[in-house]
Amino acid sequence: MAILDKHAVLEKNVTLLAIFAFLVVTIGGLVQIVPLFYLENTIEDVEGMRPYTPLELTGREVYIREGCYVCHSQMIRPMRDEVERYGHYSLAAESQYDHPFQWGSKRTGPDLARVGGRYSDEWQIDHLRDPQSVVPESVMPKYGFLEAKMIDGKYVGELMATHRLVGVPYTQEMIDNAQADFAAQADPDSDYDGLLERYGDKVNVRNFDARAGVSEADALVAYLQMLGTLVDFSTFTPDASR
Ligand code: HEC
Repeated sequence: MAILDKHAVLEKNVTLLAIFAFLVVTIGGLVQIVPLFYLENTIEDVEGMRPYTPLELTGREVYIREGCYVCHSQMIRPMRDEVERYGHYSLAAESQYDHPFQWGSKRTGPDLARVGGRYSDEWQIDHLRDPQSVVPESVMPKYGFLEAKMIDGKYVGELMATHRLVGVPYTQEMIDNAQADFAAQADPDSDYDGLLERYGDKVNVRNFDARAGVSEADALVAYLQMLGTLVDFSTFTPDASR
């Protein structure tokens, strides 16, 4: 009964109770937090993942600026209806270079995590210009003005340097060539070997909006067309050993 007596002391003295409660919470917190500092990575590495190209990263900025995330999530949950509708459930690695991430459950429109390659560039451009022209019942707003807004990628190197600060593995070479790579991706007649060398052969090099020059629509469609296409799910097997 001695232990109960001691506990009664704690229960009757609010200062002591606060001190001991604080100690318990501290120890519990440390047990949870400290191991995370000693793990090299909490995200399983997955083959195929790479940082966004300068053009895709710019498109992602447009996506965020226009608030597309207000209606669209990029996170397929491992539930049967979602996997059947959208494809393989999202992996943590697929958003490891996303700052900020685009997860969510608010879906006025469909999830976009695997929209890359689902439609042609022309469909994407038509749909952005006038969603109701391709999906009559759509409540999505029109974004035709993006085609008229020309951009030159002058600051994308600085944006990449900022992303590097928070852990995206952009090399100095990628940052130095950012503006050239930006222009090359939207122009299939350009010399884009350097771009493919830096980001891999899977990069889509196309004139996305089929008009001269690089517009915000080019950048946005470049981004949409690569979403969910980096990991090859025909060969992917989750590594359960970690
Ligand atoms: C007000 C809500 C809303 C906003 C904001 C919005 N969308 Fe949509 N979006 C929808 C709805 C609803 C659909 C489904 C009907 C359709 O295809 O138009 C859709 C469909 C889409 C699709 C086709 C997806 C598929 O799998 O069929 C794409 C791509 C898309 N939106 C991209 C965007 C982009 C990019 C932006 C930002 C520039 C954006 N949306 C902003 C509501 C929205």
